[in-house]
Parts: sequence; structure tokens; C-alpha cells
Amino acid sequence: MPNCSLLTTLAFFFAVLQASLSAPVASANRLEVFSWWTSGGESAALDALFNVYKKQDPGVEIVNAAVAGGGGSAARPVLQTRLARGNPPDTWQSHPGWELIGQYVDPGYCEPITDLYKSNDWDKAFPKELLINMMTKDRKIYAVLAGIHRGNVLWYNSKLLEQNGIKVGDQMTLDQFFAACDKLKAAGIPALGVGDSGIWASAQLFENTLLGIIGPKGWADLFSGAMQWDDPKVKEAMKAFAKMQDYMNPDHAALSWDQAIKELMKGKVAFSSMGDWAYGEFLKANQKEKEDFGWVSHPGTAGSFVIVADGFTLAKGAPDRDAAIAWLKCVGSKDAQEAFNRLKGSIPARTDVDRSKFDAYHQWSMDSFAKDKPVPSCVHGEAAPAAFEQAFNDAVTAFMVDRNIDNFASTLVLAAKKSVSAK
Ligand code: BGC
Repeated sequence: MPNCSLLTTLAFFFAVLQASLSAPVASANRLEVFSWWTSGGESAALDALFNVYKKQDPGVEIVNAAVAGGGGSAARPVLQTRLARGNPPDTWQSHPGWELIGQYVDPGYCEPITDLYKSNDWDKAFPKELLINMMTKDRKIYAVLAGIHRGNVLWYNSKLLEQNGIKVGDQMTLDQFFAACDKLKAAGIPALGVGDSGIWASAQLFENTLLGIIGPKGWADLFSGAMQWDDPKVKEAMKAFAKMQDYMNPDHAALSWDQAIKELMKGKVAFSSMGDWAYGEFLKANQKEKEDFGWVSHPGTAGSFVIVADGFTLAKGAPDRDAAIAWLKCVGSKDAQEAFNRLKGSIPARTDVDRSKFDAYHQWSMDSFAKDKPVPSCVHGEAAPAAFEQAFNDAVTAFMVDRNIDNFASTLVLAAKKSVSAK
């Protein structure tokens, strides 16, 4: 005959165990930060942010819940599962625009942080029209930005270009780019370094190429529905994107974005079209600006700044709410913005930082942000709902294989229609 009191004790024990596995763990001394910053440059910058936080709140243990995979391709699905199960991290990385509002605010996963804007004078420190509005719903603000990346940068290996007699000026046209590619191809060098083990990296190459052909006005028209995805101009961009594939490193599908940047540093490839998180990798490898690597706007996109901004949220029901609020205050502080962005490659979202603390690339990007046309990124979740972003990535995957422009265009026309009707 089983011992009843033992059974009761065991049942109690398992009930407690189960509850502790499913419920978020609350503790006064803990803060869980979720992001996808795991490459060399990304984690160095995240550590810098943690260090500023630790100075302000030394007793708190930071749990770094970063999930590897550039562009958040692996992190975002993990996050969705946790949110759906009611097990949120205290705070997580999000792009403003559709990603923040559609994925996290509308389903009720975030708490507004409007009060922090008031109590810290952030209304004045951050550009309102451009950025705060992308994080606002029903007059409530839901994130604070750590920094702003420029998505449309073409990086190059300075020495390799010099050895091959290629000069890059302040701007580059698509024709100049392809002429350089031909020269390199004749010398047996794959001109364009891509690491699209996460397809977003090629989707971004297409995004940049598309912007170079349709311009910022065309971009606004395309995402408002005034221009269609089978417009002749869009098809021209698809053709140019197809042509670029003839100059890519053959192992692109096996590499991540940062491995492709390492190939560029080694002189195995000459160019890479990548957001300026690439800058963090150059810095981490002690590469010298201009001498070792250079940059120019992705061909045809001078005058536009593709915004890829990184914000942090406050989870509704955050297990460590006080620590999370202190973290957000830290992220929005001048100290944190200066320490983080110097290493990350992005520029501070605050407009009152000390510019002299930043190097030549950042000066260039800050100037561009101040005068160029802002363009929200589709690949990084700002310009369109998640379903369209996914369809865009899938269409790029298919196009890399079949290079069929009509299929590519009609798939995107359909995806855009579906996304409008789902709104
Ligand atoms: C993020 C960057 C990150 C990049 C590559 C982008 O979506 O905004 O912060 O470095 O992905 O992982």
C-alpha cells in the first residue's frame, strides 16, 4: 500500500516544480536582456552597454539572453514563442515601425514607457518626427533607441582595390560598380562578398539595389501602394540584383554576414553591401579606416539613409520590472549612447552627444543622417508587416535560384496585396 503522505508530498513537489518552470523567474537582483548581438563587434558593443548599466546598478546580475543569427533571423522566432507562453525577457531588442508595433505592441506584450520620455527629457533629446513617432501608438511610446544604423553602405578592401587600379569617389553609380566588378572578375577575384546563410543578407543587397534605382520617393510610393512591385523600375532593380550574383563569392550560402566581412578583410572579396554593424567587425579586428577599409553609399543610394534602428522595450509583466526600467534609462543616457555606438557602428539616436568622441565613419554617417532622405528598411522590419517581410525574404530565396524576374515581381505584387488586406 503506497504511503499517502509521501504521494501528497511528491505531488506538491511536482506542482511547485512545474509552476517554477512555466512562470517567469522574478528576483530583485536580476535583469534579462534579449537581443541577437553575438558577432564579435555586436557583443563588444553590448558589453559596453552592460558596463554602463553595471556602473549605475552594480548589484544586478545581467542575464544575456542573446540568440545568434544576424538580423534576428533566429532570435525573433524564439522571442515570439517565449512571449506567447507568457515567459518574456525583461526587455528585448526591436526595430521601430512595423516590427515593434505589429509584433509586440498590438498583441499586448509591451508596457508603454512614455513617462520615461517625460522624466528624462527624451522628447527633446531624440528626433521626434522621424523616430519617436515610429515607436508610438495611441500617443504612448513603447521603446527607447540605443542607436541608428545606416543600412545602405558598400564596404571595400582599400588595398585590394588599389592593387587592381580601382578608385572609389564620394559616390558610386551602378555602372561604375559593375565596371569595378568586371575588372576584379578578370583578375579572378569575386568582387562582391555576401554571407547569406541567413537570407536577409541577400534580401538587404536587393533592398539597397532597389533603392538605388527607384530612389527615396519611389520607396515611399512602393510601400504606400502608389507604385507596384511589377513596375518597370522595380524590374530593372531585379535585373541588376540578378547580375550581381555573377560576381559573388561562390560560398556565400555557407557564410554568415560577419564571415563575409572577414573575407573582405582578408582580401578574398573586394566589396560587401551591408549595414554599418559591419563597422563593428572592422574595429574589432583593428582595421584602420581608409587605409584598410573604406565605404561609400551602396551604388545609386547617395542622398538616402536607410534607417535600421535598434530599440529596447519593457515587457508587460516583466519579471524584474525595476531593473528593466533602470536598463531603459541607461540605454537612453548620453553615456551609454556614446559608449555603445562607437563600437557598434551605428550613430547615437540622441542628437546632443559629443561628436568629437566619434571617428571618421561615424562623422560621415551623422552628416548623412542630418541631411539625407530617411528610408525605413523592409528587411529589418520597419517598412512593412512581418508577413510581407517574410514573403520578401522567401521571394529573394527563390529568385537566387531561378532568376525569373516575372515570378519575383508577381510574387511580391501578391504579397503586397495580402498584406494590405490583412491590415
Ligand atoms: C540589427 C543590428 C544587427 C544586425 C546584424 C540588424 O537587424 O538592427 O543591430 O547588428 O541586424 O545582426
